[in-house]
Amino acid sequence: MSEQEQNSWIVMKLGGTSVSKAAWWDNAAKEIRAAVEDNHRVLVVQSALTGVTDLLEKLLFDATDAERDATLAEIENRHRALADEMGIGVDLIAPRLERLKQQALGAALTSEVTPRLRAEVLAAGELMASELGRSYLERSGVNVHWQDARELLHAVSPSADNPQRHFLNATCDAKRDAQLRERLAASGNVVLTQGFIASDANGRTVLLGRGGSDTSAACLAGKLGAERLEIWTDVPGMFTANPRDIPSARLLKRLDYEEAQEIAGTGAKVLHPRCIEPVRRAGIPLVIRYTPKPAMPGTAIGPQSADLGGRVKAISLRRGIQLVEMATSGMWQQVGFLADAFAAFKQHGLSIDLVSTSETTVTVSLDPLANSLDAETVNALLDDLGHHCRARLITGCAAISLVGRQMRANLHRLAPALELFDERRVHLVTQAANDLNFTVVVDEADAGRLARQLHALMILAEGEDEVLGPPWQTLFSPCTDINVETAWWRDARDELLRKASQGTPRYVYHGASLDAAADRVKTLPVERIFFAMKANNNPDVLRRLYAKGLGFECVSPGELAHVRGLFPGIANDRLLFTPNFAPRSDYATALDAGVTITLDNLYALREWPELFREKEILLRVDPGQGAGHHKHVRTAGSHSKFGIPLEELAEAARLGARANARIIGLHAHAGSGIRDPQLWQDVALKLAEAAESFPDVRVLDLGGGLGVPERRGDAPLDMAALAALLAEFRAAHPRFELWLEPGRYLVAEAGALLARVTQLKGKTGAQYVGIDAGMHTLIRPALYGAHHDIVNLSRLDEAASITASVVGPICETGDILGIERRLPECREGDVMLIANAGAYGRVMSSEYNLRGMPDETHL
Ligand code: LLP
Repeated sequence: MSEQEQNSWIVMKLGGTSVSKAAWWDNAAKEIRAAVEDNHRVLVVQSALTGVTDLLEKLLFDATDAERDATLAEIENRHRALADEMGIGVDLIAPRLERLKQQALGAALTSEVTPRLRAEVLAAGELMASELGRSYLERSGVNVHWQDARELLHAVSPSADNPQRHFLNATCDAKRDAQLRERLAASGNVVLTQGFIASDANGRTVLLGRGGSDTSAACLAGKLGAERLEIWTDVPGMFTANPRDIPSARLLKRLDYEEAQEIAGTGAKVLHPRCIEPVRRAGIPLVIRYTPKPAMPGTAIGPQSADLGGRVKAISLRRGIQLVEMATSGMWQQVGFLADAFAAFKQHGLSIDLVSTSETTVTVSLDPLANSLDAETVNALLDDLGHHCRARLITGCAAISLVGRQMRANLHRLAPALELFDERRVHLVTQAANDLNFTVVVDEADAGRLARQLHALMILAEGEDEVLGPPWQTLFSPCTDINVETAWWRDARDELLRKASQGTPRYVYHGASLDAAADRVKTLPVERIFFAMKANNNPDVLRRLYAKGLGFECVSPGELAHVRGLFPGIANDRLLFTPNFAPRSDYATALDAGVTITLDNLYALREWPELFREKEILLRVDPGQGAGHHKHVRTAGSHSKFGIPLEELAEAARLGARANARIIGLHAHAGSGIRDPQLWQDVALKLAEAAESFPDVRVLDLGGGLGVPERRGDAPLDMAALAALLAEFRAAHPRFELWLEPGRYLVAEAGALLARVTQLKGKTGAQYVGIDAGMHTLIRPALYGAHHDIVNLSRLDEAASITASVVGPICETGDILGIERRLPECREGDVMLIANAGAYGRVMSSEYNLRGMPDETHL
């Protein structure tokens, strides 16, 4: 039969999770039958069951009989559990298990695990799993031929001098092979083989490296000249970011080979980066498919991307990056410095990922995925480099890459993104020579948030088109993007609808949620808690928090008067006044009334010393680095107007003494919307250090800033962890009282904004739901790009069927409360609920456009 007459091949790679569940095998079997009915031949390339390769690795290094028996039993159990689910026997893997037992014993007796033995033992994972696969497919009526992959794939360019690479990280040839195609066609329409394994010229087992099954499938697709390669896996495709970090990451529907390669190479785990080249060379389309739901579109990768212009397609994040910085004054015009330096890396077997050079310094990154970065190797490298330059290792970094075609043409769009790096330590910046990525290496602690902000800035706001698909969270929660099951307002829905009929827009506060938040904060080991009432000054809210025993942090005479009006007998020690660039009279009024003041500038002490005579005051310190959900709310660092810089504290002490004021406390507020509990311990440590030159200081006020989750998938602030960190600090520094000034944390989740649908509009593919709340009612989305979940309360249980932006009635383009939200079909008059609006909602509203202020209600 000539090649043309033969049916075309589809290579279907089933990943570890895909082959570990009977139901998923069912999905695959259906697809195989459909392809055969459609006159295709199918080559199934399957992985080992999830976790089995790790167990096999462990087996080789188990020291005792008991350990080996336990590991073998675990390996057998994993296969038995699947076989039971599939309704097939597990006896067929018994001989392989027996052999593994002998091999492991051999390794233990000789205390040696050669790369060759390792390859043989690890190969058993795929071989055993494929026995189950064959048996299952046969039982479901598929006529399948089982094929040992070692007879199909052969290692090329043997590395005799490097057995490690030869046996464990082999490269295979992917050239079209008409003979193989014919041979396989003769064995049937459906052939089942294993990924990850191949053979060398002597017929010995070799491996293609961890995650190498994708590469096996790609090489086989190349050899067969397949019509397409399908990678079946446990995620629905490639995303614009790792959805586990960024749940709003969008599905990428189409990519070209180079883009996919770049995204895979900069950290996405969906595809092994090595699997793209073989299909690219042969022009074979590659499709990523989601095994649990094969109907999902997945990601199609082919020769040409859908869009011709460049744009950012993904924000990739790689943690655990180490940098080597090489500094020398002699590099300038010196011939061969780089060659010498790079030779040292080669000699220690370390592969370099990113490079950035200046006249005196070269910085390179070592990717932990590509290198075994043990201290011994790295130290030996640093010693060698020491002959040529001053070499330094920088650890704890993360690389954030913006990936997409024509990054150079996109540079102007990066401008706002670059602002995010303000005040963050940037170790290295590179722009890839292939124009496909722009990478920044920062401290690992900053990386998650930066990646999220970059994603929001560069990708999130774009509509759905041929390339950008739906966000991860809407694929997995089709009704809405938040946890409606647990939100307080779900149970209160009928009451909320009644409240809405009294007029919208309207803020509603839920008393029980306020109490619960206050109780959580009260678990922290601090002496005083002041509610930062700028977040919400509603009298009912304040009463509730007052009843919980909290004090109030006020920033203006208006706020002080408001609290005094509500609680006439309030003790002065429940008030704190933290003005900023305020007129002299503000300070005079508060001090006369006996309220403790936090000074955040030396001006007042220097110019109005008489005000502070005999007074006890706190100084607001700028701890040097800000934090927070947006640059506008980072209230520390060189670009913020707040606080006394550390280097001016000596002067502050002098001025305080001259004014005869007693500096009893130091204060710092780094920013707002922070969910990393470490921050407050760091601030406390900085303040404690600064307090060494202030003998009267007994209070450290750590400010507010306690954040709440914005989106589904955001982790809440871990209060137990924060309590432990503060307790640790207190144990080391018993001299100090701790104070806190949370605003948002106490009120955000307890508040919701109700609004009514006014109009609907569809325009050039984009849909809009108009509501009677806008940027005048809730300015946070317009001002900070903040995310507030939005649901249609009138249709809470209806499935989402549209993607629409929710917009207000104000004459500004920025008057958008939610971009591209998944909603049910909305009608005029429906009540929409905007969640998490209790903090900085109503207090920041305005009468802009003379639309009036929103009402407020309590529940
Ligand atoms: N203490 C001081 C000195 C502050 O400046 C602030 C807030 C707080 C405490 C309370 O911070 P919280 O715990 O609420 O994060 N409008 C922005 C937030 C501005 C925060 C200003 N200062 C927003 O809507 O996100």
